[in-house]
Amino acid sequence: MGGRHREEALVRLTDGRLQVFPIAFDADRGTVFEPLRELAGGTPPPPDVVDFWTRVGRNADLACYGCHATGHTVAVEARSPAGLVLPASKWVEPGVGCEGCHGPGGPHVDAAATGKPARDTVKMPRGGGMETIDACAACHALREILPSPFDAVPAHRYGSSVVDAAEPLLSVASNSEFRNPFFADLRPATYQQEAIAFSQSGCALKGGLTCTACHDVHSGAPSAAVAAADGGTAVCSPCHAAIVASGT
Ligand code: HEC
Ligand code: HEC
Ligand code: HEC
Ligand code: HEC
Ligand code: HEC
Repeated sequence: MGGRHREEALVRLTDGRLQVFPIAFDADRGTVFEPLRELAGGTPPPPDVVDFWTRVGRNADLACYGCHATGHTVAVEARSPAGLVLPASKWVEPGVGCEGCHGPGGPHVDAAATGKPARDTVKMPRGGGMETIDACAACHALREILPSPFDAVPAHRYGSSVVDAAEPLLSVASNSEFRNPFFADLRPATYQQEAIAFSQSGCALKGGLTCTACHDVHSGAPSAAVAAADGGTAVCSPCHAAIVASGT
C-alpha cells in the first residue's frame, strides 16, 4: 500500500485476516522503519492495544482500504476457529480513483452521451469552497465511521462531505491509543489532519480559499503558485495584498 513516500506490506495470517506488517519502507530515504514506533517516540504498540499489528486497528480490510481504495465495501467472510470475524473487502479501484473525489460518474457519463453534462452531475467542480475542503477531509482528517463498516454502502461516500458518513474527530481517545494523542503544543499527533486545521482558518471560512490553491489535486504536485520562486507568496497576495506589500 502506498509507495510515493512510504510503502506498507500487508500479510495474510493463516486464519485469513489481512494485517499491516509493523515494518514499512521509507521510499524517500530508501530505508525500512517502524511507523508506529516512530509516531510514539520509540515505543512500539504493546500486544494489548488495537494498533498491535495482529489486532483490528491494523486490519487492512477494516482500517485502511476505506481511504486507500475507491468504492470500498466490507462483508463478513467467515469466522476463524477462535471466533474472530474474517472481513473481506471489495473495491472498484485500488488507490484514490476519479470517483473518490468526484462521486459516482455514471450519471455524468450518461448525460455526456446525449449532450453537454450539467455541472451537478459530478461533485467537486471547479471553485467548490468549503464543500471541496469537506470532501478532502473525508480522507485527510481523522474520523469515526457512523454506519457499520459492514454496510453495503461504502463508508466513504465518494465525493461527499466528511459529515455524510463519518464524524470528524480532533483526536483518537487516549484510551484506545498507546501514544499521546497530542503534541506538546496541543496539535493532534494522530494521523493526517490537514483538512481539519485548514477548514478552521479565516482564509477558508471567510475567504473561500481551498486546498487546490496550493495542490494540483490530479497530479499530487504543488500548484505553480505555491512552487514559484517567491516561495508561494503569490498564493496570499490576492487577499492579503497590504500585508504582502509591507513585507517586501
Ligand atoms: C481516514 C483515511 C485514511 C485511512 C483510514 C488510512 N489512510 Fe493511509 N493515508 C491517508 C491519506 C490522506 C494519506 C496521504 C497524506 C498523508 O500521508 O498524511 C495517506 C498516506 C498513506 C501512506 C503513504 C502513501 C504514499 O504513497 O507515500 C501509506 C503507506 C498509508 N497511508 C498506509 C495506510 C495503512 C496501512 C492504513 C491502515 C492501517 C491506512 N493508511 C489508513 C488516509 C488514510
Ligand atoms: C483528490 C481528489 C480528486 C481526484 C482523485 C480527481 N479529481 Fe478531478 N477535480 C478535483 C477538484 C478539487 C477539482 C476542481 C479544481 C479547481 O477548483 O480548480 C477537479 C476538477 C476536475 C475537472 C474540471 C477542471 C479541469 O481541471 O479540467 C475535471 C474534468 C476533472 N476534475 C476530472 C477528473 C478525472 C477524469 C479524474 C480521474 C482521472 C479526477 N478528476 C480525479 C478533485 C479530484
Ligand atoms: C478517497 C480518499 C481521499 C480523498 C477524498 C482525497 N484524498 Fe488526497 N490522498 C489520499 C491518499 C490515500 C493519499 C496517499 C496517496 C498514495 O497512496 O500515494 C493522498 C495523497 C494526497 C496528497 C499528497 C500527494 C503526494 O505527492 O504525496 C495531496 C497533496 C492530496 N492527497 C490532496 C488532496 C486534496 C486537496 C483533496 C480534496 C480535493 C484530496 N486529497 C482528497 C486520499 C484521499
Ligand atoms: C497555502 C497553501 C496550502 C494549502 C491551502 C494547503 N496546502 Fe497542503 N501543503 C502545502 C505545502 C507548501 C506543502 C509541502 C509540500 C512539499 O513539501 O512538497 C503541503 C503538504 C501537504 C501534504 C503532504 C504532501 C507530501 O508530499 O507529503 C498533504 C497530504 C497536503 N498538503 C494536503 C492538503 C489538503 C488536504 C489541503 C486542504 C484541506 C491542503 N493541503 C491545503 C501548501 C498548502
Ligand atoms: C481567497 C482569499 C485568501 C487567500 C488567498 C489567503 N487568505 Fe488568509 N485570510 C483570508 C480572510 C478573508 C481572512 C480573515 C480575515 C479577517 O477575519 O479579518 C484571512 C485570515 C488570515 C490569517 C489570520 C488567521 C485567521 O485564521 O483568521 C492569516 C495568518 C492568514 N490569513 C494568512 C494567509 C497566508 C499566509 C496566505 C497565503 C498562503 C493566505 N492567508 C491566503 C483570505 C485569504
